[in-house]
Amino acid sequence: MSDRTFHILTFGCQMNVNDSEWLARALVARGFTQAPLGKARVNIVNTCSVRDKPEQKVYSVLGRIRQATRKLPDAFAVVGGCVAQQIGAGFFTRFPQVRLVFGGDGSAMAPQAIERLCAEPGLRVSLLDFSEEYPERDAQLQSGPVPPSAFVNIMQGCDNFCAYCIVPYTRGRQKSRAADAVVRECAELVEHGAREITLLGQNVNSYGQDAEAARHATTADGGKAVTFAELLHRVAALPGLARLRFVTPHPKDIAPEVIDAFGTLDNLCPRLHLPMQSGSDRILKAMGRKYDMARYMDIVQRLKAARPDIQLSTDIIVGFPGETEQDFEDTLVAMRAVGFAASFSFCYSDRPGTRAAMLPGKLEAAEKAARLARLQEWQNDYTEQCLRNMVGTDTEVLLDGMSKKPDMAPGGGHDDGAGIPGGESWQGRDPYGQPVNVVLPARPERGPAGGPEGWLGRIVPVTIVEAKKHSLRGVLRA
Ligand code: 5AD
Ligand code: SF4
Repeated sequence: MSDRTFHILTFGCQMNVNDSEWLARALVARGFTQAPLGKARVNIVNTCSVRDKPEQKVYSVLGRIRQATRKLPDAFAVVGGCVAQQIGAGFFTRFPQVRLVFGGDGSAMAPQAIERLCAEPGLRVSLLDFSEEYPERDAQLQSGPVPPSAFVNIMQGCDNFCAYCIVPYTRGRQKSRAADAVVRECAELVEHGAREITLLGQNVNSYGQDAEAARHATTADGGKAVTFAELLHRVAALPGLARLRFVTPHPKDIAPEVIDAFGTLDNLCPRLHLPMQSGSDRILKAMGRKYDMARYMDIVQRLKAARPDIQLSTDIIVGFPGETEQDFEDTLVAMRAVGFAASFSFCYSDRPGTRAAMLPGKLEAAEKAARLARLQEWQNDYTEQCLRNMVGTDTEVLLDGMSKKPDMAPGGGHDDGAGIPGGESWQGRDPYGQPVNVVLPARPERGPAGGPEGWLGRIVPVTIVEAKKHSLRGVLRA
């Protein structure tokens, strides 16, 4: 039998991570096994093109793969995701080892294609067509345990065409997945041990507002497409689901019912990622974001009223074309006013074909980098302060694995004050999504996720005793 080993490298957003995990399960179900880079026959790179840097990384990774596999005559590479959609068959000429390119809608067909490529050495395949319908994928739950925190796609693509963003071109038009299929997948994940589910989409608030959603509407829904708020309620009602999250909402169309859900659904976690992008109305307008800061701050106030302990995080682009020092300062003022627990900030990067790429007033790289550094310095201090504020509080931690840090390794003798000789160090997340490390007594029996580790997937009561730069340390409460 020919070698059926694979390795996947993933760049970019959680959607890509989710696609890669599905692809890995689908390949394992077809008899493939995972192998390290340089040893695997099928080398898959799942790519992101949202900024220029991640795109450049793909090219260097393909060079690395070529080097690492030069002694494996059958080895080949597969490029999936947004850069694959953008460059397409151009990969075949630039990198002869690439034999399959697939985009977001083509991923459902990738496992079959990889199987064919293993059997037919001369073949090359491209799966780049956008489909009209949401490309439903086979459930692959049977192969391997389900992680305690699982991700479920609810839509593909985006229709917003923000001026800087390549996503509408690489992921195509918005297509909502059928609500019944979403709820069914969530229910299966919970049955197999998932305690937390994160619903994924480029713009979850407009779930249900597209032609594909209208096609899914059933008489049980009164013939109308299911809204995002209704979907949240349906998933939240699944017995056994301890935590529900979603990402990413667009501020322009967050419905009052979604804000209310933070006050009414017990298992909807008190943490929301709400991309602001800029704190300047002038720049928001140029970005085509369709909200101003008055609207953004109103949403923040209403979220805090619905759920007073809610923590927010955001995305910021620094140095959008035409951004003045005053515009940038407006962003800093807005960030201080909201008090984001975390932010992901990026220098503006020209993406081919987008409106912003054609705008005048581009900033020098050094100016963008200097502004970014100022913003990140403030955020880092504030994030540390948020973590320090948690010290002394009681929380609940969903355990998702054993600690990887050497000083937190099992039996590593880490003195955490918990007084548990020979205890096991575990990591997990609190309801806000903050990483927490905790030492627990050894627990040999199987956990609820069916895995070999007894604590995996359990939610334990913890008191936070220390704040580190990016994480917390807690002790088990009796
Ligand atoms: N340049 C810089 N950052 C970008 N993002 C999207 N497009 C660009 C771009 N051209 C950022 C936005 C988005 C996040 C995923 O990436 O902040 O929310
Ligand atoms: Fe890009 Fe805007 Fe769509 Fe987000 S909402 S994916 S930033 S176009």
